[in-house]
Amino acid sequence: MKPILITVYIAVCLFACYAQNINLGFFHLKPGERAPITFRADRPFAFDQAKAFGGKRNLALSQYVPLYMYSPGEADSGRKKMADFIAALAVSGSGGRMDGAVLASYVRKYFGVDLTPDQADLLAQFPGLKNLLEGMLAIENSILEMKIVKEPGHLKGKATAEVRYPEPMGTVAYPCGRFLTVKQARERLWRQAEKIFWQVDSKVLAPVVALASATLAPNLIYDQKENERRIEETIQRYPSSVIHFDSGQVLAPARKTITEEDELLIAASRKAVQTDFLASVSWVALAVIILTLLYSEALSKMTGMPSGSGRAHSIHFSVLIVSVLIFEAFLLLTSWPVNFLPIAFVPLVLVLLGQSFLPAASTTLMAATVAALISGRNIESLIYFLIASVTALLFSGKIGKRSQLLVPSAATGAVCALMAMSFGVYWQGLRQAIPATLDPGALLVGISNLSFIRDAGWAAAGGLIAAPLAVGLLPVFEFALGVSSIFRIDAWTNLEHPILKELLNRAPGTYQHTMSVAGLAQVAADAIGANVPLLRAGVYFHDIGKMSDPGYFTENQAGGPNPHDELEAEHSARIIIDHVNKGLLIGKKARVPQNILDFVSQHHGTLVLECFWDKAKHRGPNTCAQDKDFRYPGPKPQSKEAAILMIVDAVEAASRTVPDHGRAAVEALVRHIMEKRIDDGQFDQCDITTEELARVRGALIDAVSAAFHSRVVYPWQEEAGSDHLPAEGKN
Ligand SMILES: [Fe+2]
Ligand SMILES: [Fe+2]
Repeated sequence: MKPILITVYIAVCLFACYAQNINLGFFHLKPGERAPITFRADRPFAFDQAKAFGGKRNLALSQYVPLYMYSPGEADSGRKKMADFIAALAVSGSGGRMDGAVLASYVRKYFGVDLTPDQADLLAQFPGLKNLLEGMLAIENSILEMKIVKEPGHLKGKATAEVRYPEPMGTVAYPCGRFLTVKQARERLWRQAEKIFWQVDSKVLAPVVALASATLAPNLIYDQKENERRIEETIQRYPSSVIHFDSGQVLAPARKTITEEDELLIAASRKAVQTDFLASVSWVALAVIILTLLYSEALSKMTGMPSGSGRAHSIHFSVLIVSVLIFEAFLLLTSWPVNFLPIAFVPLVLVLLGQSFLPAASTTLMAATVAALISGRNIESLIYFLIASVTALLFSGKIGKRSQLLVPSAATGAVCALMAMSFGVYWQGLRQAIPATLDPGALLVGISNLSFIRDAGWAAAGGLIAAPLAVGLLPVFEFALGVSSIFRIDAWTNLEHPILKELLNRAPGTYQHTMSVAGLAQVAADAIGANVPLLRAGVYFHDIGKMSDPGYFTENQAGGPNPHDELEAEHSARIIIDHVNKGLLIGKKARVPQNILDFVSQHHGTLVLECFWDKAKHRGPNTCAQDKDFRYPGPKPQSKEAAILMIVDAVEAASRTVPDHGRAAVEALVRHIMEKRIDDGQFDQCDITTEELARVRGALIDAVSAAFHSRVVYPWQEEAGSDHLPAEGKN
């Protein structure tokens, strides 16, 4: 079981460390797609928007569509001048001719064109001038059908441009090929005039074209305000500040539609990671593997289970695996800050499942380290998670009821909030928070704007939800691991339980022994701060296997014949040792939780059944008796509580058989029993210390001595004679 759990845990941790990278490796996110997971910064990095967006911004600016307003006023005025000139020729002089000087003056006044006297005379004498001008006006009208702009600059590099018409109102996009500058329009006018009026003397045609050109004006006006707004909008789409991202900070939340900015931000984050040693795949993978192996070894030593088959391993590794899955789901599926990660649920679940302090502490440290590796991979994360989880562990020592979980919850929330604040306080930020005038309102607004206040709120909430999360997960662990939490253990200390009532009926001697053991166990457990409810439940069920053959056990024989007198030692040993397996069968059938059944299997450890082993050895020199036939199957006690039961069980039974119950005799008896088990290595697989064993010994000596103390002799007893004191007088 141990190698499987270790392998699963390492695999889950590595997946959690690289889930984001794996996702990005397989799927290249494009703008417009939805983010399948939340992308967070692996490492702290500065996102230089100007650098990242530079190319895109220039492209977007080059692609923005300029807008022109259709404004034919000036062009129409030009055409009107031509028409007026033609009309003026028609009414002046004879045959539509005008005097040269008058014509030159008219042209200068209305067209702004200076003609030489020769040109003016030539034009004045040209017989078809009116027709020529009408032809030029027709050419001009056809050119003005085009979109004519003043300057070419705004159309440079554009494929299309928009024209907004006032009447009927609307905007139409045209390819830039349909736009002409005034210069181009004039060139076109000249070319067409030459083409159409090829027979006209160029000395006549040139001034006429000059006149027409002077009236050619742009019919489109560049909309400065609207175009500036469009350019500003494009620039805003690609901002140019430098933003600092911390480890674990959200780059793009799950299910968000990815924008160009998100794409560039994620790419920049990836690039920053590639140059960072702490993000190295091999470094993190190696750290996870080594940490897990060291942790497993430490757990084995603390729980005394080198074989790795212990329940403690299953519980601790299961909690760790679930913790990594929860943390990863939190990081990948939500956009909540890393401070909100409810790390403290790990120690709380372990405490509620009745785990001892040291193993729970080591698992807590492991969970905090892995949480830091998954979420931030920096020293702040590690310190934050370590302190948060250790706080929860230290404040969860005396939990007996659900309401008592408020204490570790509140303590963890408060400590988390303080830490988040301390990580986020920078002098510069503080200075900005304090306005020049110490107005309380402004001060409050300034402080509320500080991000560390928000971080502290999330951190406090993360600490507070750890307890509800632990309580919510508890039934899952109870079901999956077959153990009972401290909240449900009381149900198994009810003497009305059918199995215990059956024990009372079928093996009353064993029942009495059980009750006596329970009293002594309570005293011993109190002496070392062990889990009293769990131990009491274990005591009640530890000998239920004796119900199958109660008569074979001394406490049920009530002074009658001993059936073992007629049996071979091996046969007797088999019957006695079998009460362990029978107890497990009865317990499993009645769905007794596994952590209570552990007391059934461990209360005799791998001890030798001495009386029958001695009997076999004394059969003679040819005896073929083997030590293994007289040993209990074990395992050895795996917890302090199981160790206490092993000691108390033997002390209670032995104390009934010795005649002297003076303190010295009781002390010798308790010492003998405990030393024998220590020498036999029965406590090698549990976390009970020598100092704790000494305290258990002292408590038991006091309790047994008190239980068998001498009482004042009643008068009727004196009359009957001291030799006939009833048994209870000595109990
Ligand atoms: Fe037993
Ligand atoms: Fe017992």
